[in-house]
Amino acid sequence: MKILVTGGLGYIGSHTAIELSKDYETVIVDNLINSNISTLKRINKIGFSKIIFEKLDLCNLNDVKSLFKKHPNIEGVIHFAALKNVSESVKDPLSYYQNNIISLLNLLSEINERKMKINFIFSSSCAVYGQSENLPISENEIKKPALSPYGNTKQICEDILTDFSKINSKFNVVSLRYFNPIGAHESGEIGELPKGEPQNLVPYITQSAAKIRGKLTIFGNNYNTPDGTCIRDYIHVVDLAKAHICALNYLLDNKGVNNEFFNIGTGKGNSVLEIINSFEKVTGKKVVYKIGPRRPGDITAAYADNEKALKYLHWKPNYSLEDALLSAWNWEKNYRKT
Ligand code: NAD
Ligand code: WQD
Repeated sequence: MKILVTGGLGYIGSHTAIELSKDYETVIVDNLINSNISTLKRINKIGFSKIIFEKLDLCNLNDVKSLFKKHPNIEGVIHFAALKNVSESVKDPLSYYQNNIISLLNLLSEINERKMKINFIFSSSCAVYGQSENLPISENEIKKPALSPYGNTKQICEDILTDFSKINSKFNVVSLRYFNPIGAHESGEIGELPKGEPQNLVPYITQSAAKIRGKLTIFGNNYNTPDGTCIRDYIHVVDLAKAHICALNYLLDNKGVNNEFFNIGTGKGNSVLEIINSFEKVTGKKVVYKIGPRRPGDITAAYADNEKALKYLHWKPNYSLEDALLSAWNWEKNYRKT
């Protein structure tokens, strides 16, 4: 069975393509806006079967048409391709609305025009919950206004998929709302590769420990949490990748499923200081940090109620926080060597 992985050279897509290549013929498309072609070689080195790659921009409808013409027997789509930098989306909202929404619309319009039967998995985000009041956050949580244009694109894409699934019984969709993916493949061949200064905590820590960056700034230590720093649900990227295979199998097994949402997180929250302490413990590297002001748009705490995914996707996270942090460090060291 042939599965299309959009954005498959990116951080989560590359890890998922490897898992997928065990049992499925995998076609990756990517325009390399936030990834590097060398990842293809690395994926093929550790993957289970050869992965096909098509370089194209999903915002170009003609390219999307050619893609489906060339691969008319695609039965599943895992749609990772998107821009994902929250602060960049505040500065340049139009690029985010354009890229993240047009790419989805182009895929759906081709699927519709070709009357394809498709199982679709969408990369959504805990960002759709906005400032949630209840913890842990369940899928039934009422969505608050998104805190950034990026988060809003995820809310809008979920709504587009819901409306499209209502009128197309051949289109079955699962939206996975990821919490905070961290870590890297155990081979050290692939991992998170932010362009420029990392916005996210763990890549900043690994780059700072590798002396590529200076001191880490902790964005605020006066939150209403036990140690004053924010709490998040950090999930190992390989566990997250495996959730996509479970979601695909769920779609293939459950004929009645048309549109479902699942949180993908560990169900446990950790503070910024806990992450720093665990990183130091498992790697033996010191993280030098200072306390800075709060980052606008940050929420105090967010962690997942993951019961729905455990029950219906038959998925469960297997890696610990320590495993994830050690793998992130191994990737950083390995990548800098090459
Ligand atoms: P990433 O930037 O590493 O990967 C996305 C890939 O999509 C990149 O390789 C990029 O080049 C490609 N791409 C973007 N626009 C494209 C287009 N128009 N045509 C073709 N390719 C295009 O990001 P990631 O961390 O792997 O995230 C994957 C998905 O998961 C995204 O949709 C993101 O919003 C979502 N997500 C990520 C996180 C996170 O913290 N990493 C959390 C929740 C949700
Ligand atoms: C984690 C914690 C920061 C960097 C983001 C997106 C979200 C989703 C997941 C895509 C926070 C603190 C960070 C630093 C710090 N992505 N921090 N110093 O903001 O929870 O979630 O990724 O869908 O939409 O917003 O992740 O890694 O940026 O921050 O103190 O240099 O680390 O304040 O408490 P976040 P993050």
